[in-house]
Amino acid sequence: MSCNPYMPMPAKLENVVQETANIKTFLVRPEKPLVFKAGQFIALTVPGIGEAPFTPSSSPSISEKIEITIMRVGRVTEKLHALKPGADLAIRGPLGQPYPLEKYHGQEVLIVGGGVGLAPLRALLFALFEDMGKYKKIFVRYGAKTPADIVYRQAVEAGWGRKEMDVVITVDKRDAGWSGNEGVVTKILAPDKLKCNPKEGVAVVCGPPIMMKFATLELLHLGFAPENIYLSMEKNMSCGIGKCGHCRLGPFYACKDGPVFSFDRIKNLQKIWD
Ligand SMILES: Cc1cc2nc3c(=O)[nH]c(=O)nc-3n(C[C@H](O)[C@H](O)[C@H](O)COP(=O)(O)OP(=O)(O)OC[C@H]3O[C@@H](n4cnc5c(N)ncnc54)[C@H](O)[C@@H]3O)c2cc1C
Ligand code: FES
Repeated sequence: MSCNPYMPMPAKLENVVQETANIKTFLVRPEKPLVFKAGQFIALTVPGIGEAPFTPSSSPSISEKIEITIMRVGRVTEKLHALKPGADLAIRGPLGQPYPLEKYHGQEVLIVGGGVGLAPLRALLFALFEDMGKYKKIFVRYGAKTPADIVYRQAVEAGWGRKEMDVVITVDKRDAGWSGNEGVVTKILAPDKLKCNPKEGVAVVCGPPIMMKFATLELLHLGFAPENIYLSMEKNMSCGIGKCGHCRLGPFYACKDGPVFSFDRIKNLQKIWD
């Protein structure tokens, strides 16, 4: 990061991949390598429009260019989705705390994603793949609204080409071509679909707040310890460095102390799912 934490580094948009109707993956080359860890985020500036926080979705071992998977929801993301390769951008970061991978060593790792929430989890998966021997097994349980809303569809359906991975997908609403699971993501967390041992595992959850809430309740019900459930708390952010208070979460600033929190640290705070 630059010595002035508010000063973004110039970056160029190199490529854009349409993932779904409203989600695209942007390949961005920063002026200097950007070294980040899975779970950390960046503040991405669209010049003349504004800045918004996003989590890189690419492998943390690649720092020359990063991928960011972004859903179109408002002012900044609308403009981003209209950009073509060659456009100027700027990046601050990396910001926040990463997933504490050393705590996952020797454990089964259950990754639970909803919608575009699979983006930060994709960077985590790449990090896990690099050291596969250190983890007992990796499970992915992913939910999207419809089959057309599944991000990284080819890779997800192929279990990232790794036979040791156990991947189950569900959609809220099936279409004519879908013969897989239908229902919200908690349905595929049921013991008959899960097959992992909550006593020997950690669970990592990212998705819309309502999905995170019900997934967390289900994981607790299954026997996961609160300290072994890791959540990405994507609160409204501005400075990204613990100065402005926008992302206050009880005694924490989600930008500086998070966005990754184990559930035991935040479970007694008010309105964590808002
Ligand atoms: C740490 C962190 C990491 C994030 N990583 C990603 C990521 O990898 N990919 C990604 O797509 N988004 C990510 N987000 C969310 C992203 O920052 C927001 O979607 C973005 O700031 C919206 O900016 P905007 O100017 O386009 O929307 P605004 O104009 O600010 O908002 C427009 C409307 O959209 C709503 N809105 C804002 N965010 C969301 C959302 N996430 N989902 C649904 N509605 C929303 C607002 O409440 C508002 O009503 C992350 C957020 C945080 C805090
Ligand atoms: S965004 Fe400013 S304190 Fe977190």
